[in-house]
Amino acid sequence: SKGTYDHYMLKEIDEQPNVMRKISQNYINDDGTLKVDKDLLTELKKADRLYIVAAGTSYHAGLVGRNIFEQLADIPVDVELGSEFGYHMPKLSKHPFFIFLSQSGETADSRQVLVKVNEMKLPSLTMTNVAKSTLSRESDFTMELLAGPEIAVASTKAYTAQIAVEAVLAKALGEAKGLESAKNFNLKKQLALAANGIQTIVDEKEKIKELAADYLTDQSDAFYIGRGIDYALSLEAALKLKEISYIHAEGFAAGELKHGTIALIEKGTPVFAFVNDGIGASHTRGNIQEVEARGAHVLVIANQKYAEAGDQIIIPEIDELISPIISVVPAQLIAYYASLARGNDVDKPRNLAKSVTVE
Ligand code: F6R
Repeated sequence: SKGTYDHYMLKEIDEQPNVMRKISQNYINDDGTLKVDKDLLTELKKADRLYIVAAGTSYHAGLVGRNIFEQLADIPVDVELGSEFGYHMPKLSKHPFFIFLSQSGETADSRQVLVKVNEMKLPSLTMTNVAKSTLSRESDFTMELLAGPEIAVASTKAYTAQIAVEAVLAKALGEAKGLESAKNFNLKKQLALAANGIQTIVDEKEKIKELAADYLTDQSDAFYIGRGIDYALSLEAALKLKEISYIHAEGFAAGELKHGTIALIEKGTPVFAFVNDGIGASHTRGNIQEVEARGAHVLVIANQKYAEAGDQIIIPEIDELISPIISVVPAQLIAYYASLARGNDVDKPRNLAKSVTVE
């Protein structure tokens, strides 16, 4: 039930610190070792490339996951949309391993890829919030997201749970391969930081509500920009805003704007810039100046490590690899309050269903 909440979406945003704690408790032993199926790790160690297949928000969690797997488990990763990949399957690597990301476990676009993967007798894992779902039953292995039922159509806690569970698996695989990068990644500590960091952001709801009003009232277009990990995050942030507020939004690689899209920036255009990626930070600052010089109304969401005076939202300490777990939360709240201000049906936006069982 919604309890004291007006909407499931806000309840589910607020539940995210607990979801992080639950994932930590369920997947990490007290001594820091991980509880991951040994047979799954044996299969994964044979793989020369991971293919993450998903749709929508889960696809965006896959884009964040790519970086995590590459860094912690030293394996190349392709992230693919089910709706594209199923019909235009590229030439696969010699030993592919498929990971299906799906909150519902019922998404037809992802399932039709799994059907083909099974026909080819290739190994697969489903990461899902619904243990007995179709994708879970039809793939070789399952890892549960443990986010609890997600009722609001706009996915929030499943996205952050997917990133956390990807980190569990990446670290487990890296450790199984004897990699220092994996051993040195203190996931227990990072998930605790994630839980606390999300809490800090949700405690700033009222401020974020005011920012949403300040930046988005009477606006019909908005941009989210960032580099690296923040680019993947920008795509999810823009999707959240579009699907529930109906404001047209684009997520953009910060450096790409100047290759055409910057033509759309005019006085007052809202631009939300993420600065959590260390390698990209200074260049993104340059891109912020470029759009400000053209009149954009810029809101900066920066990690405390890279924050500058005047930044509107500060993200608490967290390893960059999993930083979207915290930095997506301001975007979830901005979308929520923009939708609320427009009088939309926040939990049931127009034209959308919670799980999409047609191709
Ligand atoms: C957006 C959203 C959708 C789903 C997508 C995949 O908020 O909820 O984009 O992420 O339809 O659904 P699952 O994860 O159930 O496969």
